[in-house]
Amino acid sequence: MQLPKIGTFELAPSILSADFANLATEINQMTDAGIQMIHLDVMDGHFVPNITFGPPVVGWIRQSTDAFLDTHLMITDPEKYAPAFIKAGSDHITFHIETVDEPVEFVKYLHDQGVTAGVTLNPKTPVETIEQVAPLCDMVLVMTVQPGFGGQSFMEDACEKCVRIREIVGPSVRIEVDGGMGSETIAIARDYGADTFVAGNAIFGKTDRAGAIAELRQALTV
Ligand code: DX5
Ligand code: ZN
Repeated sequence: MQLPKIGTFELAPSILSADFANLATEINQMTDAGIQMIHLDVMDGHFVPNITFGPPVVGWIRQSTDAFLDTHLMITDPEKYAPAFIKAGSDHITFHIETVDEPVEFVKYLHDQGVTAGVTLNPKTPVETIEQVAPLCDMVLVMTVQPGFGGQSFMEDACEKCVRIREIVGPSVRIEVDGGMGSETIAIARDYGADTFVAGNAIFGKTDRAGAIAELRQALTV
């Protein structure tokens, strides 16, 4: 599965808030509702104060869906672990600018490995840190919560970075917003120039997932 062509709004449900004992079912519920991208939050308990899953789980997820696996590495040493995630089936690797010394080289490596590449930055990290590498990426991820947990409140001041990032990358790179997305905040993020929206709690925290997805989509049309 390829990164959806630019020009569409895309939801990327984060499985961080899903039932880890039934991930295949949870993910199939998403694709049955027309979702194309699944956001995989990888955490190492070092870069962020939480631990989730690694390449083996991505491998099992790969076998259960052909959705685009949007892999968000909240880990130190992402260059060391990227090969294992790619081998396991990640379609896209987003790394934190705070964790890499040679981001331009790393993006080239990811492209050479046949995956799309993304860079992301914590709420307090200035846009200047990604000015050089962002135009080389297929998608830039803007953290609107402090990474590590789902269900946090949206940080609008962090979302404002989308305006400058859009100036830097132009119209052909996706801008993905991650954290605190709900029917109100998703419209705010869209208005700052985002076109791809990670939602964990707003979808998996609800019993009616299809209804939650429809609500978020509806919020993007008003
Ligand atoms: C946080 C993760 C986010 C998070 C989003 O570290 O990167 O993807 O799961 O969850 P919600 O949508 O619940 O804020
Ligand atoms: Zn994420």
